[in-house]
Amino acid sequence: MTSSPWALITGAGSGLGAEYAAQLAQSGHSLVLVGRDNARLEMAATRLRAGGAVCEILVADLHSSGDVKRVGKRLASHTHPIRVLVNNAGYGIHGTLASSDSQQERDHLAVHVTAPMELMKAALPGMIDRGEGRIVMVSSVAGYLARGTYSAHKAWGLSIARSLHATHRRQGIHVSAVAPGFTRTEFHQRMEMKTDIFPEIMWLKASDVVRASLRGVELGKAVVIPSLRYKVLVALATVLPARVHQAGT
Ligand SMILES: NC(=O)c1ccc[n+]([C@@H]2O[C@H](COP(=O)([O-])OP(=O)(O)OC[C@H]3O[C@@H](n4cnc5c(N)ncnc54)[C@H](OP(=O)(O)O)[C@@H]3O)[C@@H](O)[C@H]2O)c1
Repeated sequence: MTSSPWALITGAGSGLGAEYAAQLAQSGHSLVLVGRDNARLEMAATRLRAGGAVCEILVADLHSSGDVKRVGKRLASHTHPIRVLVNNAGYGIHGTLASSDSQQERDHLAVHVTAPMELMKAALPGMIDRGEGRIVMVSSVAGYLARGTYSAHKAWGLSIARSLHATHRRQGIHVSAVAPGFTRTEFHQRMEMKTDIFPEIMWLKASDVVRASLRGVELGKAVVIPSLRYKVLVALATVLPARVHQAGT
């Protein structure tokens, strides 16, 4: 039994998700780690418990509506209420909508849009009753670009965070999207993307991205773009035509 506030993080076994778990543990949160890979989650939980954090593991595939419901149940718990929800799980896919596999597109949409929407619906009523809550949507600089379905999903994350933040901030609930650029995680390797063409200056550290995001959500920022270089790039992207966004594809 713990009296510290709880945070639930999806995709907590690696990359940004593992970093959210570590930094939220440092700020005194107990954790629910969500992901598909039980062994990875157990390893992360062992590290966090060694540092004194209380940790639960919830193995769930966010492509599955049944698994999303189980995560939603944990979010709606009144006995161990969740203060912070981090919708972080995600990945990139190759190809265009015209040529890609339909089931792959449905799964991709589910992990970035349907699951976060269901999880926020599960979390919000309790947060409203308690008069406090934090929700982080891990979006991307890609959400400002016109680069296929991944960009479109990440644009939804930016838009829904802005909207929910405006709706619920007076109820003590801060909703914040973070829009990182290239960040050193397993993301690019998992999608078998060549990264050596991108200069070192383009790369962010997961710890810096998460620190900026968690500071931003506490300060009540609806959108956080970590680093000056990516703020400039986003400003440029909003005035450049979509065909420029697609360079290199
Ligand atoms: N790295 C970047 O450059 C970058 C830039 C902008 C935005 N982002 C976003 O940051 C988020 C985190 O990615 P990352 O960079 O940390 O990459 P990562 O290291 O590959 O982590 C992605 C996490 O998502 C989880 N995940 C994927 N599909 C899932 C599913 N169906 N159900 C449950 N969990 C699932 C993975 O867990 P399991 O496979 O173990 O289940 C993994 O822990 C993503 O939303 C990504 O779009 C990344």
